[in-house]
Amino acid sequence: MNIDQLVDTAEAMMAPGKGIIAIDESTGTIGKRLGAVGVENTEENRRTYREMLLTTPNLGDYISGAILYDETLRQSTRAGTPFSEVMRDAGIVPGIKVDSGAKPLAGFPGEKITEGLDGLRERLEEYVRMGARFAKWRAVITIGDAIPSETCIRANAHALARYAALCQEQGVVPIVEPEVLMEGDHDIETCYAVTEETQRALFSALYEHDVLLEGTILKASMVLPGKDCPEQASADEVAHATLRCLASAVPAILPGIVFLSGGQSDEDATRHLDVMNRIGGTPWPLSFSYGRGMQQAAMKLWGEDMQGNFEAGQQTVYARARDNGLAALGQYVG
Ligand code: 13P
Repeated sequence: MNIDQLVDTAEAMMAPGKGIIAIDESTGTIGKRLGAVGVENTEENRRTYREMLLTTPNLGDYISGAILYDETLRQSTRAGTPFSEVMRDAGIVPGIKVDSGAKPLAGFPGEKITEGLDGLRERLEEYVRMGARFAKWRAVITIGDAIPSETCIRANAHALARYAALCQEQGVVPIVEPEVLMEGDHDIETCYAVTEETQRALFSALYEHDVLLEGTILKASMVLPGKDCPEQASADEVAHATLRCLASAVPAILPGIVFLSGGQSDEDATRHLDVMNRIGGTPWPLSFSYGRGMQQAAMKLWGEDMQGNFEAGQQTVYARARDNGLAALGQYVG
């Protein structure tokens, strides 16, 4: 393990006023999103769409890293430049999603376990050769009737820790992402309790597996009421609950925390991050690693006219990057 390399990469990912764009949707997931804007899920459409995003002029002003899917890391621009090279030239650190998805957890109806550890060492070796410097693994925790179970939380924490250790062995910074889903009618207190337990279980597994926390980034879900909860929360409530939860579960030595957007509106995702940074006082920088929260407006526009709206799509991504970059400093004005 090269400690300096891990620390340097984590520091570059957490550059002040910048965040990460998550464009690592699997072929199935991107297919659903493209379908929703009327675009056929072909390899060439996926490539063109991601070229639109990654070649956005000056994207590196507000974006420190991008998480790609396996297919994208192997692709190039129309003109033949590999995406990893485009990113390096733009000052954007290339990252790669390495899990193979959340599958039903046997014996625990309604719960999921993320798979993808088999052969991961060899896959990471190849990704490093292709230029990846960080990776992502997403675990999914569902809130519902009598769930999550402790078994689900522990099994996912264990998988995240094994993944993180394998990444660091190859000099790759692991983003560990235990996502507590927004689906459901639970209240914000329930989300708080589940998120705190999930994050504590994760860090105890990371300790057990000797993962270097200085070379690890947490991708956290915000503490929110469920989408169907009759009582929604103000931005202040979300920010305070999320900060309290992180303070109680996350070691201060971690180099940074980035949030997922998780199905929040663009405005909510940005506002919540901004309010947290205005409150401030955390030992870690707080930034974003949004997928939908960075892309949904741009994808919709591009989908209306793939050629005609190529540049308009880029302007939309740039505007989202700027708003979120300002929120990472607590300077978003809306
Ligand atoms: P969202 O921001 O759309 O939740 O996606 C982030 C992500 O990378 C999920 O794994």
